[in-house]
Amino acid sequence: MLLTEAIRKRYSCRSYDETRPIEQEKLDRIFELARLAPSAKNMQDWRFVVVTEKDKKSRVAGCTNQSDIFKKAGAIIAACSNSDYVMTCGQAIGPIDVAIILDHIALLATELGLATCWIGSFQADKVKTILGIPEGIAVIELITIGYPAGDEKHTTREPVENIVCYNEWVF
Ligand SMILES: Cc1cc2nc3c(=O)[nH]c(=O)nc-3n(C[C@H](O)[C@H](O)[C@H](O)COP(=O)(O)O)c2cc1C
Repeated sequence: MLLTEAIRKRYSCRSYDETRPIEQEKLDRIFELARLAPSAKNMQDWRFVVVTEKDKKSRVAGCTNQSDIFKKAGAIIAACSNSDYVMTCGQAIGPIDVAIILDHIALLATELGLATCWIGSFQADKVKTILGIPEGIAVIELITIGYPAGDEKHTTREPVENIVCYNEWVF
């Protein structure tokens, strides 16, 4: 699948086929390629806990506000950062670097016939306890990944002219 196709096809999936686990080869391929994502100073301070065990997945899903949906995904990935480095521009690299690699993960998953959903609405402290994530490591985001059960539901986007200008801020 071309990158442009994957970008167009990706959507936030909120309906998973719980009878279809994700093949380990697919997870391996996703992480093998996703790790090529850029990161500030090439620190690669991201770490991932891939939750595939049914009970643990349910418990992690229970830390979100849509647990019945997300627990059916083949896996819930806790995307973590062990960096508190702040760039000269004032922005922390942790969430930025994790967001870049998560987007790689979402697009690679799409290419492999899987679907994903980013989850920011979750209780990070509870997730950390369930997964044994130590203090000092931040759970930046969760992402579900799995075989979809329903139709693709695509959302709308602003037209380019509403979000891009050249040479001077005109918004
Ligand atoms: C940082 C981030 C956090 C999000 N958190 C949630 C969430 O907690 N629950 C949820 O159902 N979707 C969540 N989403 C999915 C967005 O709602 C979705 O990406 C957006 O509505 C656009 O739809 P699409 O992904 O289907 O194109 C999140 C997406 C991003 C990028």
